[in-house]
This record gives sequence, structure tokens and C-alpha cells, in this order.
Amino acid sequence: MQSPKQSLWLGAGPTISKRMGLLRYARNDRKRDFQVKSYNIAVIPGDGTGAEVVREGIKVLDAVSRRSGFALNYTHFDFGGDRYLRTGETLPDGAIEELRKFNAIYLGAIGHPDVKPGILERGILLKLRFELDQYINLRPVKLYPGVDCPLKDKKPEDIDFVVVRENTEGLYAGAGGVLKKGTPDEVAIQESINTRKGVERCIRFAFDYCRKRNKVKKLTLCGKTNVLTFAFDLWERTFYEVAKEYPDTTVDYAHVDAITMWFVKNPEWFDVIVTDNMFGDIITDLGAMIQGGMGIAAGGNINPEGLSMFEPIGGSAPKYTGKNIINPLAAICAGGMLLEHIGEEKSAQLIEKAVMEVTAKYLKSLAAGKMGYTTTEVGDLVAKFVTVL
Ligand code: IPM
Ligand code: MN
Repeated sequence: MQSPKQSLWLGAGPTISKRMGLLRYARNDRKRDFQVKSYNIAVIPGDGTGAEVVREGIKVLDAVSRRSGFALNYTHFDFGGDRYLRTGETLPDGAIEELRKFNAIYLGAIGHPDVKPGILERGILLKLRFELDQYINLRPVKLYPGVDCPLKDKKPEDIDFVVVRENTEGLYAGAGGVLKKGTPDEVAIQESINTRKGVERCIRFAFDYCRKRNKVKKLTLCGKTNVLTFAFDLWERTFYEVAKEYPDTTVDYAHVDAITMWFVKNPEWFDVIVTDNMFGDIITDLGAMIQGGMGIAAGGNINPEGLSMFEPIGGSAPKYTGKNIINPLAAICAGGMLLEHIGEEKSAQLIEKAVMEVTAKYLKSLAAGKMGYTTTEVGDLVAKFVTVL
């Protein structure tokens, strides 16, 4: 059954729209206005399978927003490898300013087999993260029911943690240079930039997030204090200083090499983990594998005070492109994170519930081509369950 609010929304078009504001709907000729919350979403399908998975994500977002009575307006942008090959441009002038007008960005994947690695990643993905100051990369690692876990004897209750990855500094900052390139004396330097401000805001976010998540309230700093004695000295000091403001949170520390071991052996030890950009990149691929693979791993590039961007973390998977066999669940889950971020928590939970229903009772595997369903069928299933569960 649709609520009256929903049938009104379905039956009439918007007459006035404003950013993050309300839409006014007039029904029939009676000047009866109805107000529905609406959000403007910038969609960047990007490369490879990005478009296919984003399409399913939008299918699910539309279904859940209809049920919950809010509207999502999408504007598509063609940034990616094809555009670059055509125009030589990664992000055109003014793109960032244009994007700032939106409530959130929904991204498919960046990476094209005909473009040298680094150009699109730096020119689009990292540029967006940096220019929009999305200083948090939030990556949940959660084993859903029915999902094959490569770890022996680990169950959904054992794998449920979140990595808070710093997203604008570290080795990703692009500091360094090269001398005597192409000679036997070549020198290549890539520096890790860690600022007190950047480290502290990330750690504070992690403490706040851990408190809000309210699971066991344990925050683990992942670093390498035994070798990176400048960078992780700053991280460690900041971590324990900020920890004093969160007496309700248990704090812990693990070296990055050791944490890869614990992810495999004792993933149940973790609740929230905070780490730098490079370590966060590496450990979240391992995290993705223990939650069932890249087909399910989603992430958010978050600027808590500004514009955030949500994406499946798996990449563009060129060899699966156009075959309707890629798993769209990671993109669908990224859509759920987007909704949570813009304040539609109930709908975000519905998406998660629907995804769990599909992993528990339908999919044979999360791997591309082995799901027992096509990409579009998986989208259809989740879209159905968000409306009936
Ligand atoms: C990720 C990706 C990116 C990163 C690449 C594509 C630049 O691996 O989002 O984890 O290293 O951050
Ligand atoms: Mn990565």
C-alpha cells in the first residue's frame, strides 16, 4: 500500500525545486500543495562496469525513495576514460564548482585499459577527493548472511568492522620528485605528508563514528610506529591525546603488517580502525576479500562539512564490461551509505536489509558471472525487497 504522500508524489511532477529543500507538488486542479524532501545527486558512472552497477544502484535508490517518500534528482556526468580519450580532459574546468551544487556524488568506477595508469586515477578520483576535501574514506567490512567467506569458521558475527582511512594526505599527496630520470643514477622520492590538522580531524571523526556506531566502542589505530617514526609518532601522539576526550571508548594499536594477520585470524577483534591513506588502501582490499570480495565492498569519501562521494571500491573491471554479469551489490551498498549520509537512515537500513535477503537466499556467489543471476536481475531483486521487507 502506498501512503497518500507517496501516491501524490508519484502522480505529480515538481513545480518548484530548491537545493536540499522541498519540492512543491500540486495535484489535479485543486491548489493543494504537497511538500516532499528532495536531494540532488551527481552521478559519475565512469569507466568499465561503472555504468552497469550505477544503473542498478539507481534502480534501488528510486525504489526505496518512493517507499520512504523523498525524491532523488540525478544529473549524470561523463567524466572517465572515454571522455579523456576523446577530449584529452580528465575533469574539465569548472567541473568541481558544478559538482559543489549537489547534495552528494554517486560514482561508478575510474580506470580505463587504454589509458596509462595514474592519469584518470589522479586526474579524476583523487582530484575529486582532494579538491572536495573528502578527508575520510569510510569502508565498512561486514560479512552478510549466505556469503562465502574465505576464512574457515568465520561467521557474520565475526566480521563486522569499519575502516576509517585518511583520504587526502600521506603518500597520496603527490609530494616528491625524480632526479636523473632514465639514467643509472635515477632518484625517485615519494613523500608521506602528515599534518597535525589532517591527522587530528581524521582521528576525531573515527572516535565520533565509533561512539555513534555504539557496538563495542573500540577504536584501533593501525600504523607502523616501529619504522615510520616521524609520521606515526604524530599519529600515535594525536590518537592518545584525542582519546582522553573519549573515556567511553577503548583504544588499541596494531602495526599494519600485524593487522593483516589479525584480519585473517581474528577479525572479530575489530570494531573501528583508523589509519593513514596508504595503509587504509591496502588493508581495505583485504577487508573486502574477507567480506566476500569486491562485489560487495562499498565506501564513502566523506567531507563531514561538505560534499561527499560514494562508490563501490572494486574498480572498473574492464573484462566484465557490457556482459551483464558484474555484481552490482557494492554499488547498491554505496547507495545505501549515500542515503545514510544525507540523513535518510531508515532507507539506508532498508537497502542493507534487502541486500542481506538477496545474499542469504538468492545469490550462489558474489563473483562476477557466478551469481546465478545477471547484474540487472540482482538489481531487480534488491529493488523488490526494499519495497516489501
Ligand atoms: C581505492 C583505489 C584508489 C586508491 C585508486 C584507484 C587510485 O584503489 O579507492 O582504494 O588507491 O585510493
Ligand atoms: Mn584501493
